[in-house]
Amino acid sequence: MKCTAVAPANIAFIKYWGRTDATLRLPANPSVSMNLSASTTTTTVEFSNGYSEDSIELLETGGFSAKENRRVIRQLDIVREYAGVNTRARIVTKNTFPKSSGAASSASGFAALTMAAASALGLTLPEKELTMMARLGSGSACRSIPDGFVKWEGEAAYSLYPHAYWDLRDILVIVENRAKDVSSSAGHDTAGTSPYFPERLKRIPDRLARLERALAEKNFRAFGEVTEEDCLDMHRVMQTQTPPLFYWNDATRTLMEAVRVWRSTGIPVYFTIDAGPNVHLLCEGNNEGRVREALSTMVGIADVIVNAPAEGAHIVTDHLF
Ligand code: PMV
Repeated sequence: MKCTAVAPANIAFIKYWGRTDATLRLPANPSVSMNLSASTTTTTVEFSNGYSEDSIELLETGGFSAKENRRVIRQLDIVREYAGVNTRARIVTKNTFPKSSGAASSASGFAALTMAAASALGLTLPEKELTMMARLGSGSACRSIPDGFVKWEGEAAYSLYPHAYWDLRDILVIVENRAKDVSSSAGHDTAGTSPYFPERLKRIPDRLARLERALAEKNFRAFGEVTEEDCLDMHRVMQTQTPPLFYWNDATRTLMEAVRVWRSTGIPVYFTIDAGPNVHLLCEGNNEGRVREALSTMVGIADVIVNAPAEGAHIVTDHLF
């Protein structure tokens, strides 16, 4: 049977960095994120006895490397094992944003793949189980399954608030489309080599409480402050790991500085950055125009993707083949 799923990327406000079990991708700390409306992956999976091997095709934005192919097949195997079948599959997939640029294509990719494959094999899994299965492909993928604003703790992720709860914007500024050198997967494994990692973990419970309070109260300033704080804290760990991971470039730093200047002129905007050079500008919907206008004066920007909060992964009837 053939099934297609669409899954959003997500941006974490409290980041997942480091894990307690690398194989099971169990996180060292809980994280909270928002699904992104304009940064999605669509994946069609068809299982058939007519296929003698698995095939994977990435439309429009280049192909997968051999390593990425193996990771996709490993995830298919997890779903197949759960369903108790051995049938091979054809997979066709498409992103609306550049792959491996820190724009979280692994989250939307593994969420869409897991949901489409499970559905194509006739599995009807509760959302919690689906998040646990997606997590095995890429940790942050579990956060792309539930609706809107999502918390991941331990094995599973769940929705804190639906996407319509708060009209936020994530204006993703692509400063460089080049694939990153070090995957976040490899980075998680060495997070513990940073002397600041235990410090980070100690501060997480208080930070999570502050973020969840800010979300509950829709207090944008408190939300932005704690989100920036956690981003900088994660990057401090990254930069002091062995080997150190430097994801920022000159354009990243210029934008981070610009955000501070814009705030001082009265524009309520904050930034966050994942494992790549691109910058996510966070503001409320009614300030989108002001942030975009400020952004239009900047040079060195390859692309801008404006995201609102989005629903989680879901099945659609339009197939890619
Ligand atoms: O799921 P992964 O292995 O791609 O890790 C994601 C890590 C960050 O994007 C840097 C942080 C996060 O919580 O999304």
